[in-house]
Amino acid sequence: MKTGPHTLVTGKTDTGKSAVVKTLLPGMMASGKYQKLLVLDYKLDPRFGADLLTDDPEEFLAAVEALEDCLLVIDEGGATVGRYGGELQKISTMYRELGHQAFFISQRGAQIDKTIRENCSNLIVLMQGRGDAKALAESFPRLEPLIDDVPMLEQGEYIFVPSFGDPKRGRAF
Ligand SMILES: Nc1ncnc2c1ncn2[C@@H]1O[C@H](COP(=O)(O)OP(=O)(O)OP(=O)(O)O)[C@@H](O)[C@H]1O
Ligand SMILES: [Mg+2]
Repeated sequence: MKTGPHTLVTGKTDTGKSAVVKTLLPGMMASGKYQKLLVLDYKLDPRFGADLLTDDPEEFLAAVEALEDCLLVIDEGGATVGRYGGELQKISTMYRELGHQAFFISQRGAQIDKTIRENCSNLIVLMQGRGDAKALAESFPRLEPLIDDVPMLEQGEYIFVPSFGDPKRGRAF
């Protein structure tokens, strides 16, 4: 079975979630490991540089099912949590055998579906409340010693938490 390590990206609105992912995409696409970059984003932000950019979950899912080995970005953005909830869950559980690797961008750690959390190998956490950080640490235990750092992160600053190995701090801007 082919599996791509999925990554969950969480933080309050305007903390820089989309910006962080945008800094990672060019290098990943240049690696030659991915056929296409597919982006589901209700803001339809052209700066993702997507091969397919849509705000329509049906259109996105059709492309995900028709292709293999793509890099996927599902960006809920804004103030709505769960906008793409059903689709997020489906992709996190069903499509790994197609070789896709996904970034799930959503606002709040505490509200993210447990199925999605458990299907993500990596976490990128931006500024959010301690309660959300604590909820995330249940699925990503290596965040536990850093819970108190999360509410103090600056805009654009993040902590990358892998399943294995040490968490690393970084800045998108
Ligand atoms: N490269 C950059 N350089 C400087 N500032 C930036 C950069 N990218 C983003 N910002 C600033 O950070 C803000 C938040 O960035 P971004 O849109 O990525 O946040 P977000 O967490 O995705 O927000 P939302 O949940 O609303 O989608 C932007 O509105 C902008 O002011
Ligand atoms: Mg965003």
